[in-house]
Amino acid sequence: MIRSVVCGSGSALPGAAVTNAELEQRVDTTDAWIVERTGIRQRYIAGEGETTSTLAIEAARNALDAAGIEGSTIDLIVLATATPDQTFPATATIVQDALGCNGGIAFDVAAVCSGFLYALATADSMLRTGMAKRALVIGAETFSRILDWEDRTTCVLFGDGAGAIVLEARECAADGPGVIATRLHADGAHNELLYVDGGPSTTGTVGMLRMKGREVFRHAVVNLSTVLEETLAGTDYTAADIDWVVPHQANARILEATARKLGLPPGKVVVTVDRHANTSAASVPLAFDTAVKDGRIKPGDLVMFEAMGGGFTWGASLVRI
Ligand code: UT7
Repeated sequence: MIRSVVCGSGSALPGAAVTNAELEQRVDTTDAWIVERTGIRQRYIAGEGETTSTLAIEAARNALDAAGIEGSTIDLIVLATATPDQTFPATATIVQDALGCNGGIAFDVAAVCSGFLYALATADSMLRTGMAKRALVIGAETFSRILDWEDRTTCVLFGDGAGAIVLEARECAADGPGVIATRLHADGAHNELLYVDGGPSTTGTVGMLRMKGREVFRHAVVNLSTVLEETLAGTDYTAADIDWVVPHQANARILEATARKLGLPPGKVVVTVDRHANTSAASVPLAFDTAVKDGRIKPGDLVMFEAMGGGFTWGASLVRI
C-alpha cells in the first residue's frame, strides 16, 4: 500500500525567550499562577524581522536537512497558520519561493491550533492519491502579534514558533512506517469561545485573540479523549501500543487529563508547553521535533498526534515513524 512516510522533522524558535517573571513586569500576573494553572514557564516571542514565514522557512530547511532531501524536489507544501504574513498570498508560497521548489502545489490551511493535524491529513490524502510525491507539512505561528497584551487571561498563554515534517509517498507494508489513520472534526457552534475579533471582511483590522478559557478547557478534554479512541478504533492498535503521544501544547493539565482518560502513563506524553507555551498550529510539530532531536522518538515508534483549537476544530493522527 502507498503510505505517507515521515522522512525528517525540523523546527524554529524566535530569538527571545520571555519568562513568566518578565511578564509579571508587564501585566497583573504571577509566575506561580501561570505555572500552577498551565505549566508554562517561558515562551518565545518574535522580534523585528521575524515573521511566520521566516520561522516556517527555517523549520522547513531543518526538516529537509534531517531528511537529507533537496528543497527543489518538494512538490507540495501545506502550511498551517492562523497568523499568515499577509492576508494573501498564502505563506506557503513564500516558503516555496525561498526553498526554490516553485511549480508544485503550495497553500495554507486555517484550523488554528488543530491546523497541523488538518495540514497533515490534507497532505497525506494528496500523496496517497498521487497528486504529489514529496510534501512539506508545516505549522508556523506568530501569535504574539494577535495578543491583547492588556488581557492577562490570554497574553501569558501563547508563544511563537514553527515546526515542519517532510512526508514522502512510499510503498509500505501494513506494519511499516507512515500515516496509519487520521480523524478530524469541527463544530462551528463554539466559535464564540475562541476567536479573533477582527478580519479583512469584517472590521478590516487584524484583531486580537479572545478566549473563554475555562469552557475551552472542558471541551478540549472531552473532544481529545473521544477522537483519540476513534482514531485507534479504525486500526489494529490499542492505547497500550502507543509509544508516544505528541499533543497540542495548550495546558499541562489538559495533557495530563487526556492521558489519564486513555489510561496512558504521563511518561509517554511529550510535554514542551513549559518551554514553548501554546504555539497554536506550530505546537505539535515543534514538540515532535524536540522529542526526535533529544532521542526520545525513534524510527519504528508508534506516535499519536492530537490537537484541539478554535472553531472548534480537533483531530488525531496515528503514525509509525
Ligand atoms: O489552544 C487552543 C485551546 N486552548 C486551550 O485549550 C486553553 C484551555 N483553557 C485553559 O488552559 C485554562 O482555562 C486557562 C489557563 C486559560 C485558565 O485557567 P483556569 O484554571 O480555567 O482559570 P480561570 O479562567 O477559571 O480563572 C481563574 C482565576 C480568575 O480569577 P477569579 O475570577 O477567580 O478571581 C482569573 O481572573 O484566575 C484569574 N486569572 C489570572 N490570575 C493571574 C486569569 N488569568 C490570570 C493570570 N494571572 N494570567
